[in-house]
Amino acid sequence: MNKQSDISLATLHAPTRHDSGPKHVTGTAEYIDDMIEPVGTMHAYLGLSTKPHAEILGMNLDAVRSAPGVIGVLTAEDIPGENDVSPSHKHDEPIFAVGEVQFWGQPVFAVIAETREAARRAAQLAKIDYRDRPWIADVRAGQAAGGKLVTEPLKLERGEVDAALTSAPRRARGAVTIGGQDHFYLEGQIAFAVPGEDEDVTIHSSTQHPSEVQLMVAQVLGIRHNAVTVNVRRMGGGFGGKETQGNLFAAVAALAAKKWNRACKIRPDRDDDMQATGKRHDFVVDYDVGYDESGRILAVDAVYGARGGFSSDLTGPVTDRALFHADNAYWYPAVRVRSEPLYTNTVSNTAFRGFGGPQGMVACERWIEDIAYALGKDTLDIRKANFYGTDTDNVTPYHQVVEDNIVHRVVDELEASSDYQARRRAIIDFNKTSTVLKKGIALTPVKFGISFTATWYNQAGALVHVYKDGSIHLSHGGTEMGQGLYIKVAQVVADAFGVNLDTVKIMATSTGKVPNTSATAASSGSDLNGMAAWDACEQIKSRMLAHAAKLHDADEADCHWVTGGLNVGRKHIPFAELAASAYLNRVQLSAAGFYKTPKIHWDRATGRGHPFYYFAYGASVSEVTIDTLTGEYTVDRVDILHDVGKSLNPAVDMGQIEGGFIQGMGWLTTEELVWDDKGQLRTHAPSTYKIPLASDVPPIFNVRIAEWSVNREPTIGRSKAVGEPPFMLAISVVEALGMAVASMADYKKAPQLDTPVTPERVLMGVERMKTARGA
Ligand code: MTE
Ligand code: MOS
Repeated sequence: MNKQSDISLATLHAPTRHDSGPKHVTGTAEYIDDMIEPVGTMHAYLGLSTKPHAEILGMNLDAVRSAPGVIGVLTAEDIPGENDVSPSHKHDEPIFAVGEVQFWGQPVFAVIAETREAARRAAQLAKIDYRDRPWIADVRAGQAAGGKLVTEPLKLERGEVDAALTSAPRRARGAVTIGGQDHFYLEGQIAFAVPGEDEDVTIHSSTQHPSEVQLMVAQVLGIRHNAVTVNVRRMGGGFGGKETQGNLFAAVAALAAKKWNRACKIRPDRDDDMQATGKRHDFVVDYDVGYDESGRILAVDAVYGARGGFSSDLTGPVTDRALFHADNAYWYPAVRVRSEPLYTNTVSNTAFRGFGGPQGMVACERWIEDIAYALGKDTLDIRKANFYGTDTDNVTPYHQVVEDNIVHRVVDELEASSDYQARRRAIIDFNKTSTVLKKGIALTPVKFGISFTATWYNQAGALVHVYKDGSIHLSHGGTEMGQGLYIKVAQVVADAFGVNLDTVKIMATSTGKVPNTSATAASSGSDLNGMAAWDACEQIKSRMLAHAAKLHDADEADCHWVTGGLNVGRKHIPFAELAASAYLNRVQLSAAGFYKTPKIHWDRATGRGHPFYYFAYGASVSEVTIDTLTGEYTVDRVDILHDVGKSLNPAVDMGQIEGGFIQGMGWLTTEELVWDDKGQLRTHAPSTYKIPLASDVPPIFNVRIAEWSVNREPTIGRSKAVGEPPFMLAISVVEALGMAVASMADYKKAPQLDTPVTPERVLMGVERMKTARGA
C-alpha cells in the first residue's frame, strides 16, 4: 500500500491520481498525530483568555501546576528569545499575552503534562483577574472608534475619479457586508517538537510555511536558524489557515521540548483551534459607482474596511489583494480604491484561499448587480458591457496591462454550453406563476492574479538526487495540503528524465533539504516548485549526457533523451544503466534547482507595477430555488468552465475546481461566524458552524476545464495555477439567490444580499422586496 508502484506510467498533463489518494481513504497516510511518540513525550495545552480586551491584574496558576500529571507551565517569562510569532515586521503577536489580553481566546499560558487529557483538564484551573477595557468588535465599530489601523492602507488610483463621478448620468451607492470564514481544515493545528543535541530542535509542524516556522522557533528560543529543522510530510488541509497560524503551536512545542529536554506535542481541540486562530477577514465595502444608461461603468470610488483583529499578521497583504481584485474582469475608466485594515479585539485574521481577492470580487459583482437591476437588464449584459478589452481598455487600477484576456471566450462558451439564455427565460416564466417557490440563475466570471504581491516570495528551490540504481529522490520547498502539489512536481521530474512516475520518490518537505522557502500559497506552488525541480533535473541530465557522449565517443548533439533513457547515436542506454555508469565515472548525480518568476514588480507606495505574472480565468452559472415562506433554498445546478492553462494534471485540477467552488459556496451561503456581545466567538464547532457536506454538492454539477487554454507565459508545461481561482466561481450562487429574491418585486429592485446568504438573509430579502412592491 505504501508503494507508489501501482501508479502506471504518467507524464506531464496526465490525469494521474493523487499520490496519497489510496492512503487517504484507507487511513494509512501519516499525519503528525499518527507519528510514533518517543518515550517521555509531553503534551501541551493552551490556557485562553475569557475577555475581549482587559488588563491582566493577576494570574494564579498554582492549581494548574499541582494538577495530576502536570510537568510544568509556560508563560511569557519562560521564553528565552522573543515573545512573538508575528509574520509582520511589527512584531505584534505575542505567544502568551503580557499585561493585557486583546481578544477572547488569546493564549495566556500553556500547561505541559504527561498526557494530553491531563494538560487539557489542568488548563481549566487557572485563576486570572482581569480589569475590562473598552473593546472593538467589528469593522463598523472600528470605524466609529476612529479607525485605528493594524497596518498601512493601500490606495490604487487611475483617472479623474471625482470628475467622472460628478458627470456620470447615474450612480450606484451603497455598502456591502461580506462575512468571514473559518478554515475548518480536517486536521487541526498541531506541532511536535523533538529536542536534539546542543541547541538543536526538530519540529514536525502542520504548516504551509516551514521556513517561517523555522525562523519563529529560532527567534523564540534565541538561537540561529541552522539549529532548527522543520519537517512537513502533509497537512490535512491548510487553505491559508496554516500559512502563519501554525507558528504559535510550533513555538510552544519547541519551548517545552528544550526546557524539559523531552519531546512535546500540542494539538488544540477544535473549539480552541477555532477561537484562537485567525480566519478569513470579513469586510464592509462602501462604494460609489458612476455609470451610463447602457450600463457602462465610468468611475469607481470604494473603501474596503476589513476586520484585522488584534495584530497585523497578513492583514496588509490580504487587504491589498482585495484591492487588486476590486475590478474582477472589468475595466474601470476611472477608479480609486482604498483599504482600511482595521484593528479589532478579535482573533487576528489571516490568509484564506483567495487571500482577500474573493472579498474584492464580491463587492465588485455587487455594483454590477445594482446597475443591472436599476436599468432593468440581465446582470450578464452589464458584465459583458464592462469586460476588459484585449487591445484597449485593458489597464487595471494598479496600472498593469491585462495581456492575456480570455474572459470573453470563457463566458461565451459557458453561456452556450449551459444553455443560459433559454434557462433564464424559463425561470422568469416559472416565477410568474409559482407563488411560494422562486428560481434564480446567474453567470459570474473570475479573473485572478497569479504571483505573490511580495515580489521576493516568488522564488523556489528543489533538490533532486539520482541514485546509482536509477531511482530518484525529490525534495522541494512546497508543502502538500491535499492540493496535489507533490504529484504534479513528481510528474515534472518523471517527465524530465523520461522515467516512470514510480521511479520518483516524493520526500517530505524539510528546511534541511531546501532552505529559505516561501509559503506554499498564492496558488503558486506548482508554478514555482515545478520549475525549480525541472531546473535541477536539467542540470543532472546535462552532466549525464556529457558523460555518455564521452564514454561512447559521440557528439553531444547526437545524444537525445527519450522515454526510458538516453539515445547515444543509435545506441539506447536505459536510465538506470546510465546512472550506474555515471556514478562509476564520478559524475555528480545530485542538483539543487532554483526558480524565480520573471516580469513582476510592484511599488506599493505609488500603487503601480506589474504584480501578477499572468491571470487565471473562469466562469460559472448557478441555478437556485428559494422558498419564499422560510428562506430555505437549494442550489439545483451549477455549470463551470475554468482555465488552468495546459493542465499539469486534469484529475487533480478537477478536484481543485470542484472543491474550490464548494468551499466558496460554503463561505457565501452557510458558514456564519457569530461573536456575542461579550466578545466571544460562539460558532466554534461543527454544531454551530456549518460547512458544506458531500450532500451539498449540486445534483447537477457540470465542471469543465477550458482545454484550449495554454498559458502565454512560459510556465511549467504552460500550465496555470489552480488552487485559489475556482473559489470565487461560487459568487454566481449569491447572484442567483439575488435574482430569485428580486423576482418578488418583478426584478425592479436590486436584491443587495450580504454574505453569507443564509436562509435568514434570503427571507429578510424577500420581506424587503414585498415592502418595495407595496404588498
Ligand atoms: N486544496 C486542498 N485539498 N487543501 C488545501 O488546503 N489550499 C488552497 C489550495 N487548494 C488547499 C487546496 C490554497 S489557500 C492555496 S494557496 C493552494 O491550494 C496552495 O497550493 P498550490 O500553490 O500548490 O496550488
Ligand atoms: Mo492560500 S490563502 O494563498 O494559502
